[in-house]
Amino acid sequence: MTKIFNGNKLLIALVVSLSVENFAYSESYDTGDERDWLLNAENDKDRLILLQNYLGGFSVSMWEVGDRYKTIYSALQNENFDLAIYHWKKIKAVIENGYLKRPARRANSDAIFINSTYEAVLSAFETRDIKKAWQGFSNARSACMTCHVAEKIPWMNDQNLFRDTAVSNN
Ligand code: HEC
Repeated sequence: MTKIFNGNKLLIALVVSLSVENFAYSESYDTGDERDWLLNAENDKDRLILLQNYLGGFSVSMWEVGDRYKTIYSALQNENFDLAIYHWKKIKAVIENGYLKRPARRANSDAIFINSTYEAVLSAFETRDIKKAWQGFSNARSACMTCHVAEKIPWMNDQNLFRDTAVSNN
């Protein structure tokens, strides 16, 4: 529950406020403002469908993962270990929230990333030894790419995001 709360504050806050205001908002509530795309829905179920669709699936999570991954790379170039650790922890939460939405992605996420790579890479960053940190990053990169192959999207690895972050380039 804590995990769900952390990652989906917005969603939970909306759901809670929807149920608190259930009486007022359970039916169509025309505010007269077309920007009230949730309030103006027919009922709470429709509102949740709108939210669920808006939150997206695994790819929106991966988009965020990719951005944080890139930031870790530049954080290590600057030897900013705290920043690398910060984004690494966020990546774990984002992947877990990703498979909350798409359970079919869970098995490979857990096997390849959460249960096997995450802690080792975190420890490598926490040594604050730049050589070990780069080794950790290299392991992280391999895990990302291994999962893309396991999920049958090997072409995902053929892009600059991964080419430019090969540790030998550093
Ligand atoms: C489940 C194993 C898995 C792991 C672990 C994983 N990915 Fe992915 N990734 C996927 C899948 C599946 C997709 C395609 C999602 C879709 O099409 O819905 C994807 C898509 C992406 C995308 C494209 C996102 C977009 O739509 O813009 C990027 C970028 C990406 N991954 C980066 C990474 C990085 C970086 C890591 C490691 C830190 C990583 N991935 C770890 C499975 C994984």
